[in-house]
Amino acid sequence: MKDRRSFIRKGALLASAAMVSASVFAKSESEKKKSINLPGLVFTEESQGKWEGKAGSHVPIVTVNGNKVTLLTAHGMSNAHYIVRHTLVDKAGTMIGSKTFSGDDGKAESTFELPTGFSGKLYATSFCNKHDFWVKEFDV
Ligand SMILES: [Fe+2]
Repeated sequence: MKDRRSFIRKGALLASAAMVSASVFAKSESEKKKSINLPGLVFTEESQGKWEGKAGSHVPIVTVNGNKVTLLTAHGMSNAHYIVRHTLVDKAGTMIGSKTFSGDDGKAESTFELPTGFSGKLYATSFCNKHDFWVKEFDV
């Protein structure tokens, strides 16, 4: 009888440990999904990689005014070196808008209209022809 109780107690403890492990694992997976982490491929203010010091001129500055979102990349524009493109994408990967620039454009600025009633996480991207792909994550 004692062996049976001991067996049941150990089983309950193992089940509890497995549940705790599963919840810790699930939490760390959700934490991973919260931030952009593709070093060497996607650059952010927090993760500038080989372009350390370039965030100020490559991460888009986001301004939200009602249902309009304006992206401005404070970067010089010339045919040799310029911001190629902006995009605004939601959490599901739906492209809300994009704008392609040329070196002749005076500045890298774009404005997009959000769908009526939209709220949630958005990603503003800015692609430089020399300094790769930069992303700013924000909520509206
Ligand atoms: Fe650049």
